[in-house]
Amino acid sequence: MTKYVIEGGYKLSGEVTISGAKNAAVAIIPAALLVDGTCRIENIPEIRDVTLMLDLLRDIGADVRLINRNCVEINASKIRTTRADYDMARMIRASYYLIGALLGRFGSAQVALPGGCNLGDRPIDQHTKAFKLLGANVDVQNGYVFAESVGRLTAAPIYFDVVSVGATMNAMLAAVLADGTTVIENAAKEPHIVDLANFLNSMGANVSGAGTDVIKVRGVKKIEGGTYAIIPDQIEAGTYMAAVTACGGEVLIKNIIPKHLDCITAKLVEMGAEITEYDDSVLVKRTGELQKTNIKTLPYPGFPTDMQPQATVILSVANGMSLVTEGVWDSRYRYVEELRRMGARIQVDGKTAVVEGVEGLCGAPVKACDLRAGAALVIAGLAASGTTEVEDISHIERGYEHIVEKLTAIGAHIYRAEVPDDAALSKAQ
Ligand code: EPZ
Repeated sequence: MTKYVIEGGYKLSGEVTISGAKNAAVAIIPAALLVDGTCRIENIPEIRDVTLMLDLLRDIGADVRLINRNCVEINASKIRTTRADYDMARMIRASYYLIGALLGRFGSAQVALPGGCNLGDRPIDQHTKAFKLLGANVDVQNGYVFAESVGRLTAAPIYFDVVSVGATMNAMLAAVLADGTTVIENAAKEPHIVDLANFLNSMGANVSGAGTDVIKVRGVKKIEGGTYAIIPDQIEAGTYMAAVTACGGEVLIKNIIPKHLDCITAKLVEMGAEITEYDDSVLVKRTGELQKTNIKTLPYPGFPTDMQPQATVILSVANGMSLVTEGVWDSRYRYVEELRRMGARIQVDGKTAVVEGVEGLCGAPVKACDLRAGAALVIAGLAASGTTEVEDISHIERGYEHIVEKLTAIGAHIYRAEVPDDAALSKAQ
């Protein structure tokens, strides 16, 4: 077992460079299955979810070549099956994008119901509704989603009942090669939706309106190869901004699109951070005391749910009482129990957390229960007095490229420690 050991209480200073966006990469890589020819994808983050997605493509016969650790070339001309490996697919949420891409290109997909972070109920009814509207037969059997069409999919109006990132992207993937113009209404507007549209258009697709709540996909007969670079990760950037706000200090966060961070910047400023925006970087500084504020998570451009745990850590040591309301997921407060071990005073009632700021947190052994919860516990450890040990870090390494190295470079005292797991210990005894 590997854990992070953190000696807290140090201010952060220096520069950190943000990697490519996880949630864009895990959609754009399967989108390469729609491409007739080779496509080169640059700025992919070196994280476990991306590695798994590339393995899933390799496993069905795609030619996947890593040019370097952040660049890959994919050619899907020799796909041997449209059935994805069950165990691999259920390890990540984003495996559901294989359904849209395989169905759109080959008229058939068999993919396990997806896994991913445990955030409460995570249905995919809006995905399957979109595929059915485009003319596919969709069924769930033995843990697999089976989707099939006779010939090309046919364009249709799709109105989503909830704003869903995954369903919006999956509908786009399925509609790219469909016959006619698909209109997706009540679409999600996250930066990674726009990135997927830009990727598809750069390969010859005709997608307009991404970033608004109505997206039009004019079906084309084929899309061809090209080169595309993924946008910087909004949530990784927000996580480092939150770390500086929690710990104090001054850090330049580079390789970002400041506009994507507006919703995060506004709240961190309310909490006491000073943030200066440049063309592709932000300088985050915090010298004064932290202040309470209220937060409600919402689909973009609202405050992102994927920043809720990190923001709650800051509020747990701010002056006064804050209210945090989770507006996207049913259950995203499982990390609160771990934060309480560090002295946080937080009461959760359904989707609301009442956070009573304390003077300071103190280090403790804690467990990451999901990706952003893990990032939040790392921030808590950096801001706390004493030593924090974060276990179950595989969750964190699913989504943060070289987090230990990046934090160390800005003055954090954090290292990875190998510890024998219980099974190995009892064998040795
Ligand atoms: C994406 O998940 C992200 N994952 C999540 O990031 C992120 O929290 C979420 O979007 C919201 O921004 C990836 O991109 C791989 P949704 P997704 O469909 O697409 C309901 C992280 O930490 N819903 O936008 O699965 C659903 O229950 C991860 O990086 C339906 O009811 O989220 C939720 O309440 C965690 N039916 C809401 O919509 C559906 O068919 C939003 O979910 C689909 C969703």
